[in-house]
Amino acid sequence: MEPATFVLFGSTGDLAKRKIFPALFNLYIDGKMPSAFSIIGMGRKQIEHTEFQQTVRQSLETFSRREPSAAKQLDSFLQAIRYQVLDVTRSQDYKKLLEIVTDREAELNLPQNRMFYLSVAPEYFDTIAQNIKLSGLGDTTGWKRLVIEKPFGHDLASARELNKRLSKAFAEDEVFRIDHYLGKTMVQNLEVLEISNPVLHALWNNRYINNVQITASETVGLEGRAEYYDQAGAIRDMFQNHMLQLLMMIAMHLPKGSKAEDIRNRKKRVLEALRPLQKEEVAASVVRGQYEVGTVNDKPVVSYIDEPGIDSSSQNDTFLAARLWIDDTFWSEVPFYIRTGKRMKEKSTRIVIEFKDPMNKYYTQDPSEPERPNLLVIEISPEERITLQLNSKNVAKGEGVEPIQIDYKVAKEMPEAYENLIYDAFRGDASFFAHWDEVELSWKFVQPILEAFEENLVPLYKYKSGSYGPAASEGLVGQDGNTWWLDS
Ligand code: BG6
Repeated sequence: MEPATFVLFGSTGDLAKRKIFPALFNLYIDGKMPSAFSIIGMGRKQIEHTEFQQTVRQSLETFSRREPSAAKQLDSFLQAIRYQVLDVTRSQDYKKLLEIVTDREAELNLPQNRMFYLSVAPEYFDTIAQNIKLSGLGDTTGWKRLVIEKPFGHDLASARELNKRLSKAFAEDEVFRIDHYLGKTMVQNLEVLEISNPVLHALWNNRYINNVQITASETVGLEGRAEYYDQAGAIRDMFQNHMLQLLMMIAMHLPKGSKAEDIRNRKKRVLEALRPLQKEEVAASVVRGQYEVGTVNDKPVVSYIDEPGIDSSSQNDTFLAARLWIDDTFWSEVPFYIRTGKRMKEKSTRIVIEFKDPMNKYYTQDPSEPERPNLLVIEISPEERITLQLNSKNVAKGEGVEPIQIDYKVAKEMPEAYENLIYDAFRGDASFFAHWDEVELSWKFVQPILEAFEENLVPLYKYKSGSYGPAASEGLVGQDGNTWWLDS
């Protein structure tokens, strides 16, 4: 991989500490960093390189997935790091940054390949991008890339405005919009699963699939982010990005022999075929909820409106379930059910595919025997697992039918999402980053839902913390004669 410089804005923040530095270090241990590299971290604090290197050392000791095989390895990684004080709004600070970047390039004999990673509050995205351009940091003889965290806008208009401004400093193929769900190993496995297995590929359509369920339930609450979350809600925090990305990844159809960049085109087609919701219809297809007191993982927790920093009159959504339709030849008539929420019973991100027409009743005399459809369950986290539920003769009884599971659990420790994504960004492979078209189309879809929430056209149901969300979300799938699988 070509030598490069990694320029990290927000290097003293929480994400840098927990995810970004550990990811860089794990790539380094695995021999997946560029052949030569420099890392420059910036923040407001006035500290020396050595002090900064020590804080990175501590975060690696606490959060790194991998242990260094020798102390020397950790030291040489830390040696590559420099620190620069920077106020993101002061243009002269970028000149100093340019100096240190070019000095290190000269010292290490690096070509001018620069990756600018923005791990900062979204209101600074635009300011930083413009300053990179104005200071000359972006005038490289090699490549330049902008890696940008979510949220990309807070509605359709603001996302468009942000994109317009960023595009003045970076071309679309230089912008790598992170959606960390796309970095998860099992999410990256979805296309391979479908394409490389004729046994699945042949069934991947509305002839054989009854419905698709995508769940991302969390047990955590606000984790100290009240101010952000109360403005965002589950709709902006999870649905507009992570959940719609999972929908695209599971629903796209890739032709044989397609290349990496085809993924983004096919994903876009899914969103183009997503049936738009009119504001007035949202309540029939979307359930929103907010958690109340309850018990999660055996611990009592307070209701959302009693969380520190939340106003007792907040109408914010901490849960969302939706029924979506993709009007194309593969998926018409197949409901896609999506739900996500905080303070739910368990942490689980999974996709369940329910196949049509179970025939188990055919083999039993008992009319009360329930129908047991074949299920393909793809668990994304916290475990990475694939289970196929089939029907089999009840061999113990010698009659009747029982469900059996064919189960594969990834036993090996997998790279974390950020490792996969940073590695791809160094290689310039944007397949698992969100293209502007996807972001725009997803905001377009979400916009009427935001408006319906704001105008209170959709009831806000309370749900007990530690549950699977409001009963209305059962009703949403129940209306179609379906049920959420695996809730127990
Ligand atoms: C983030 C959200 O993008 O994803 C958080 O802002 C959420 O609110 C998190 O908790 C969930 O990610 P994961 O990887 O734990 O499922």
